[in-house]
Amino acid sequence: MTANYFNPVQSVYGPGALLSLPTLLAGRKAALVTFPEARQLGLVARVEGVLGAQLACVIDQVLPNPDVAELAHTYEAFWRDHADVEVILAVGGGSAIDTAKALMVGTASGGFQELIDLLATGAAFAPHATKTLIAVPTTAGTGSEVTPWATIWDRGRQKKYSLHLPQTWPSVALIDPELMLSLPASVTLQSGLDALSHALESIWNVNANPMSDTLAMSAVQDILDVLPRLMRDLGNLDLRGRMALAALKAGMAFSNTKTALAHSISYEMTLRYGIPHGIACSFPLPMVLERAIGHRADRDAVLTQALGPSLADAPARLARFIENLGVKTRFSDYGVSDEEAEQMVLHAQGGARGKNFIGNTAEEILA
Ligand SMILES: [Fe+2]
Repeated sequence: MTANYFNPVQSVYGPGALLSLPTLLAGRKAALVTFPEARQLGLVARVEGVLGAQLACVIDQVLPNPDVAELAHTYEAFWRDHADVEVILAVGGGSAIDTAKALMVGTASGGFQELIDLLATGAAFAPHATKTLIAVPTTAGTGSEVTPWATIWDRGRQKKYSLHLPQTWPSVALIDPELMLSLPASVTLQSGLDALSHALESIWNVNANPMSDTLAMSAVQDILDVLPRLMRDLGNLDLRGRMALAALKAGMAFSNTKTALAHSISYEMTLRYGIPHGIACSFPLPMVLERAIGHRADRDAVLTQALGPSLADAPARLARFIENLGVKTRFSDYGVSDEEAEQMVLHAQGGARGKNFIGNTAEEILA
């Protein structure tokens, strides 16, 4: 069978990589899109210091899990006031990069509702205008810097929209572990577990290919080794760098497979219970692993390489790993009854990402 792997994002990696920005911009003006605390953490000053007059504006009101209600004003002001800006520089976690992906797609009217209406159809469309995106993750986990997808939430309607266009691939992922040194323990943990979830989800996935498998196996091995040590030594640049590289590999793996059942479950857990993404997509991993084992010999072989010699006790080992990091792994730990959990998993199996899971039966997908 022919395999196909595609990822057009240039990766620039290593301590001090931020200093490559002027070369990467090559004279173009940039808008910095970042989170409110970035100024206080000194990140905005660092970018200003590197870019000088090339930095046209700073949009620092990005909130976790960007919502249509908050994005509309930012989007319309950006396209109205900064027509001359060619590059969006997203500095932050998944929410900053997802917000930048929404901002980079211009509508004919300049209105944000036009974009939401296009996304609501679920069909591909050709954007009226686009800007170039350079993604600078300050967390090691989201993978958004090497994928074309963004999730935009509409909490008012309990919905989420997926932005996914050929134009929304970042042009550069600039990964500088020095920018991750100030990450608090909670975000380090959540993003690290998100990366673990991306790697495993790309293995128990109908879209897996030998290249995504290689990246995912390596990412899982690295994260199992590095994340517990990093949680005890948050200021260690070497461990930050290794975790950043693992998250990058996981991102490259799932950029070709998309995620699967654990992420499908996570969306409901985040909408209904407000659980942060990295926790919501990782607490079900042992349960999903248990369901994945035994369906396909080739997937079992890759899971064995990723998780160790014996698959039989791998779900218990994975649960222990996650629980030792302080994250509970059962639905009941989050106040979800057995019946609701069963319904949620069934619903998640039929979701867009859930359908990628190798362990679904035809009846479950139709349910
Ligand atoms: Fe994720």
